[in-house]
Amino acid sequence: MRALRLLPLLALLPVAVLPALAAAADAADFASLLQERPGRFRPVRSTGGMVAGQEPRAAAVGAAMLAAGGNAVDAAVAASFAEAVTLPAAGNLGGGGFLLLWLPGPSPARGRGCLPSGPGAAGPELPIGGGQAVAIDYRESAPAAATADQFLRPDGTVDRQRATRSPLSAGVPGSVAGLVLAQRCYGHLPLARVIAPAIALAEQGVTVDPFLAESLADAATLLAADPGARRTFLRAVPGGSPRPLAAGEILRQPELAASLRRIARSGHQGFYGGPTAAALTALMRERGGRISAADLADYRARLVRPLQITFRGHPVLAPPLPAGGLSLLQLLKLVEPFGPLPGGASSAADLHPLAEAMALVFRDRNEHLGDLPQPEPVVRRLLDPTRLAELRRTIDPLRHRPSAELAAGQGRRSGGTNTTHLSVVDRHGGLVSSTTSLNLAYGNGISVPGAGFLLNNTMDDFSAAPGTANAFGLIQGEANAIAPGRRPLSSMSPTLVFRPDGTPWLATGSPGGSRILTIVTQVLRNRLVHGMNLAGAVASPRIHSQLWPDRLELEDGISPDTADLLQKRGHRIKAANAMGAAHSVEWLGKGRGSLGMADPRRSSGLAQPEPAGLRLRSGAPNPP
Ligand code: GLY
Repeated sequence: MRALRLLPLLALLPVAVLPALAAAADAADFASLLQERPGRFRPVRSTGGMVAGQEPRAAAVGAAMLAAGGNAVDAAVAASFAEAVTLPAAGNLGGGGFLLLWLPGPSPARGRGCLPSGPGAAGPELPIGGGQAVAIDYRESAPAAATADQFLRPDGTVDRQRATRSPLSAGVPGSVAGLVLAQRCYGHLPLARVIAPAIALAEQGVTVDPFLAESLADAATLLAADPGARRTFLRAVPGGSPRPLAAGEILRQPELAASLRRIARSGHQGFYGGPTAAALTALMRERGGRISAADLADYRARLVRPLQITFRGHPVLAPPLPAGGLSLLQLLKLVEPFGPLPGGASSAADLHPLAEAMALVFRDRNEHLGDLPQPEPVVRRLLDPTRLAELRRTIDPLRHRPSAELAAGQGRRSGGTNTTHLSVVDRHGGLVSSTTSLNLAYGNGISVPGAGFLLNNTMDDFSAAPGTANAFGLIQGEANAIAPGRRPLSSMSPTLVFRPDGTPWLATGSPGGSRILTIVTQVLRNRLVHGMNLAGAVASPRIHSQLWPDRLELEDGISPDTADLLQKRGHRIKAANAMGAAHSVEWLGKGRGSLGMADPRRSSGLAQPEPAGLRLRSGAPNPP
């Protein structure tokens, strides 16, 4: 339904976008190119690289970097800074996330002082496919003054308001550090060049489209409660309550433009020092937050070695803890032997064991995972083939095993979709997959006075009290308790997949809170098990289960007959809203270009450089 409601959005895209809707390569071309059936949906093809993301103007900014000779990192960094302006619910300067990249050839990072030096120094880069893959952890961290009980009332219950809507709910922001690090170590264009479009968008303003208008309307109460957010996103109504900006009005963010300009000028220091840091710490002092000038000065994004598995012959890479990568890879390994069944994708026989595997993975996640000081033994244990086989054997092919039999505790609900994901491919096959978030939509709703950006409420991703649920219904343990400097456990799983010969192939990921890892798993199963093309793999209906609450969520598009069969196997079925937005790209190989699919579930942008200039292509499904 949501996808249908968003179709009118296309009418508002710039005129240059519209001709592209009819311009995708024809089905026969795809069939021969991909040696696969074209499918009901078709990806878009490009020879110059592609940016697939949630926000069309930000995707266009990324594509403009590709057109200017930038690589996938330039495009991803530029698009991310632009999303901080055009997608205020999730794009951000005040949040955090994870980025995974692969670039061909020798690493540019070594000559730039980004990697450990000296004989035998183990680096974060993973050599694969004639290039290097590396992950960047730019997750928020707990301030030095954070305490395990900071969200607890005297009676031991969690104060949800404090955990999600107060200055205390903000972790030390990581996005700027992560994007600047990516650019410095792996980008090709100057930092100021890739930030310039975001500055212009913030300063000159962007036209509010129906998607943004709807999102602002949904968040109006939250945004009205904060003076800065109110000034930016709402309009005063004489004699009445302020109203959110409507479609067609202009969103201008001059304070955000000034913050971006300081980053363009001074890089990392332009955010973690100087006027921006002063504005943020002043807010914390005045309103009872705990982020100090020292927390900001000490914050570092980290280059980290990706985790790797092989799924059906394909190397799959994902970022390590505290990202969701480990759980994603565990789920993929657990379901790897579940082949295509005669009923095909979305049949009850296919979905039942997948759902059971999801619950098992969430049990491990809840019990064992967090920002662990020594993650290696846990990684080895969770991916151990013998243990995986034992877990697989506990799945009854005909009956759902109630969560109460699997684990103690009770959950509430699974998460919304308040994060944003970008996948980028450049003309040389360079790939970037980056997922970023303020946690809930518009974070805690608090805009930093004078700096013009919203703060995250990612401290809620910690377990505020073991055994109680966070906003995503996740019940987590001591391994994810709040501690100074620790980063909260995330589900974000930007993912890269390689061909069996090791050459780069596919970048994907999604927003969706706790659903992220189940969404990415389904995209990859659709592509690699069910033989769908990229567009079908992204567009096909999804399911989600996360142990608690003990239920199976089904997206629109899973047939009622299938739902009935799943119910007969013991699942409690819940019809769910659209899950995530798995914007994805594929590299076809030298001289063959790339494919992209922006997930039609949400407002989506797919942009590519064309020889004659920049043209946008819609992520909406092509007509049959
Ligand atoms: N904020 C949701 C997540 O990182 O999983």
